[in-house]
Amino acid sequence: MALFQKSRKAEEIGQADLPRHIGIIMDGNGRWAKKRGLPRTAGHAAGAETFRRVATYCKNIGVEYLTVYAFSTENWKRPPEEVAAIMGLLEKYLGEAIEKMERDGIRLKFFGDTSVLSDQLRGLIRETDGITAHLGKTFQANVCVNYGGRDEIVRAARAWAERVRAGEDEALTEDAFAALLDSSGIPDPELLIRPGGEKRLSNFLLWQSAYSELVFTDTLWPDFGEADIDAAIAEYRQRQRRFGGL
Ligand code: FPP
Repeated sequence: MALFQKSRKAEEIGQADLPRHIGIIMDGNGRWAKKRGLPRTAGHAAGAETFRRVATYCKNIGVEYLTVYAFSTENWKRPPEEVAAIMGLLEKYLGEAIEKMERDGIRLKFFGDTSVLSDQLRGLIRETDGITAHLGKTFQANVCVNYGGRDEIVRAARAWAERVRAGEDEALTEDAFAALLDSSGIPDPELLIRPGGEKRLSNFLLWQSAYSELVFTDTLWPDFGEADIDAAIAEYRQRQRRFGGL
């Protein structure tokens, strides 16, 4: 049996060379709001809705994993009101998601150092982890919060050092190290999309994106939609992936 019930859209878009894992840097919320004379926080609220829509679409077309950058280790430099608004949106979204994850067959996982988040947010993350743990193989959304690619690598290196200190003598290989990253057990993203016009990774999935195909678009994240996912997949399908070979 197919991994998911195939929707008509999945038939249309075709399953050949469909990325199993898509990463998205959700950029452009602030500019979207400014263009409309709205506060930046309104842009984040619109961005959270876009995440919901895009995740549902990815699930429907048969993508297995979607990883989004919601809050970086550097985003704490923003004004406290904006940080609070983003955290508030995450709480709201998680509270709603908990009700629906089981029904919709959506696993949720968090990447990043969540130890410094509010008690309420950590409680919600624990709840979603509990639901995710007993949901079978289905679509999974990974939300990066207080996440930085360098920080993730440092946390994994610390965990490795702990093992060595405890006397474990497993050889340090790429696979053994990757198993200590937040993305443990998840395939690397074949496709990484950055809306919002900037052309950089900004500390997103540094280890996992070694061979990702990068697609940049000027569309601001709140305006991003199904057609933009289709266009990014079409561009991905044009690329020749050689992984250093010929
Ligand atoms: C980048 O746009 C966006 C962020 C730093 C925040 C993203 C957060 C959300 C979409 C809300 C919560 C997410 C979920 C998954 C419910 P920017 O503010 O840097 O935009 P700009 O470059 O136009 O200023």
